[in-house]
Amino acid sequence: MCRLIRKNIDITELRKTMGVWTTGVAVVTTRDSDDKPVGMTINSLVSISLTPALIGWCIDRGAASFDVFARCRVFSLSILSGDQFELAQRFATRGANKFEGIADAEGGGDVLIPGACAWVRCRLYRLVPLGDHLMLIGEVMDFANEGRLPLVFSRGAFVAPVNIEHAA
Ligand SMILES: Cc1cc2nc3c(=O)[nH]c(=O)nc-3n(C[C@H](O)[C@H](O)[C@H](O)COP(=O)(O)O)c2cc1C
Repeated sequence: MCRLIRKNIDITELRKTMGVWTTGVAVVTTRDSDDKPVGMTINSLVSISLTPALIGWCIDRGAASFDVFARCRVFSLSILSGDQFELAQRFATRGANKFEGIADAEGGGDVLIPGACAWVRCRLYRLVPLGDHLMLIGEVMDFANEGRLPLVFSRGAFVAPVNIEHAA
């Protein structure tokens, strides 16, 4: 029988254990009140509902961009492709020049990452405070899917995607 760890939750061990839950990687972007682009790498993205079309993700209250995202009315997701791990690292680095070379950042509209495998634009539907994170639930306004293989994050590392077999 497996040995379950109970009580006095060891956060490091919990992160390690939940890190087995393998995900894609997205960059979420919005603009602050001065129209400056703001963005971060996330893997807490979850598809919630089809009717209405709702997706959600969670932001750490300690993130530098927390206040901007907590007040945003719209946000955009770029689901990164298998070759975009450098962008994933850049957008996970506080203080980095995150938008260097990203054309959309220059204008005033939504910032989508070129070369991503899919994009989803949302308007904020609901904010749900959850412990040390805040969940942002977005209603999907539009989306696109390029059919590229996505970047994968598993057990704390970026993993090269492989196609084994198509499910449904
Ligand atoms: C693969 C990966 C997934 C991440 N997922 C999340 C997430 O879902 N929510 C979150 O708040 N931070 C997440 N982070 C951490 C943020 O990207 C990181 O803290 C970033 O510096 C936050 O940006 P900011 O501090 O400039 O706002 C993730 C980092 C990596 C590498």
